[in-house]
Amino acid sequence: MKRCSERYGSTFQIILGGKAFTVVCDAKGLDSIFRDKNRAFTIHPAHRRIAQAIGGVKQADIVVHLISDRFFPIVTRSLSREGMDRYVPAFNEDLISIVESMADRVRDSSNGRSFPLMTFIGKSMYHSITKAAYGSLYPFETYDDFETCDYDLVLLISRIPFLSRRVIQARQRLSHALGDYVERAWLDGQLKDASPMASEVVSILRDSNLDQSDVGGALFTLTWGMLSNPIRITYWLMVFLLNDADAAAKIREEIDRELRDNFEGDIKRLFAAPYTGVDEHFPLLESAVNETMRIGILQSAIREAHVDTELATESGMVRIRKGELIMTNISGPHMDAANYSDPEVFRPDRFLGEKGRSHMGFGGGRHLCKGKLFAVHVVKMLVILCFDMFDMQIVDALGKSIVGELPPPDPRRSVSVLRPSSQPEIFLHAKIRDKKGRS
Ligand code: HEM
Repeated sequence: MKRCSERYGSTFQIILGGKAFTVVCDAKGLDSIFRDKNRAFTIHPAHRRIAQAIGGVKQADIVVHLISDRFFPIVTRSLSREGMDRYVPAFNEDLISIVESMADRVRDSSNGRSFPLMTFIGKSMYHSITKAAYGSLYPFETYDDFETCDYDLVLLISRIPFLSRRVIQARQRLSHALGDYVERAWLDGQLKDASPMASEVVSILRDSNLDQSDVGGALFTLTWGMLSNPIRITYWLMVFLLNDADAAAKIREEIDRELRDNFEGDIKRLFAAPYTGVDEHFPLLESAVNETMRIGILQSAIREAHVDTELATESGMVRIRKGELIMTNISGPHMDAANYSDPEVFRPDRFLGEKGRSHMGFGGGRHLCKGKLFAVHVVKMLVILCFDMFDMQIVDALGKSIVGELPPPDPRRSVSVLRPSSQPEIFLHAKIRDKKGRS
């Protein structure tokens, strides 16, 4: 995309999967798509494609309308600032127990232990987010299939025969397991032990004349939407911090200070506090999350024009015809030196005190991300736990430090957020932290 926009300007056309897309790469153009003042754009084609590619659903048109018209309002309400305390305690409780059991394994070994970074982050979040949403009957053992589908998303979307077989099988197993979970957990008009959000969604799915595999596929689509971006953003945030000793030291200092001043130095108190008691804390870490999103997010939204219209961009008005597909290249303004000096450089304090200057990582307008508070919370909490409990280093498969030599991400595999070129390629070497001298 970067090369295309350097060559053809900030608005150009590409063919993807046999379809022509107008790609918009500048802040003004993206803003006018997100705001959509003339109500000219619909979001449905993107959701249909996601439901087909990720969930493998057959009745994609039904599922698309359910997602946009019925499920998003439920998510908006459930994950609003007021709703967060229904989900945060269960998430916090599970996450801290997962990382504590990792600490027990690290403690058993005098030289510390190495874990594949993506799997450690992915597995911890998969368990704690699905447990908060779906309760203890969720089939947590499906994580490996989830990781396969998420990593090979490009193959799922492109459906190249033979190459896609492994990932399609993983998706079938997952959808089957989720359809089965719904049947097992549905008791007396609700999902046993699950959040009200999940029960509401499943109740609608069950009333929608979908077969069990489409119910499972639709649920997997939603579950992927809750998990994929937070996992990948946490992964890059950990990689960027551990690749930069100064940044890591400042984050650690903030975590120690905030814990000492507000939670009596006890991480368990932070994890037991209500959401509104913690969301204003750790501003440097929050800025680092925004900075990671600025660098790591590629493209965020696809729209279809349902009338002829015009788009205001930085290079003038662009005519859009009815039926045209538009893709927003968020990375354009995020990596533009006119908006951010040294855009390639990770600066954790870039957004300190400046909430969201041209930051479009969560989209904007009517379709602004409805899970943004939850997403930032889960990323922050996992990073805080890791920095509080461990001394960490990023290493390769042989245990050699890779600080200053990060393997480059693979843009061809990347959808929505950058993906590593192979998995696992970065390992986390963790030792139990000596906290004696921290106060
Ligand atoms: C770091 C993590 C995340 C990022 C970067 C992210 C990014 C985005 C972006 C860019 C959009 C706008 C898409 C568009 O305009 O078409 C969006 C929409 C949305 N996001 Fe997120 N998201 C994240 C996490 C989450 C989570 C955890 C949830 C739910 C639990 C969630 C739920 C939604 C929903 C429901 C929408 C659709 C809003 C609408 O169309 O009305 N997101 N997200």
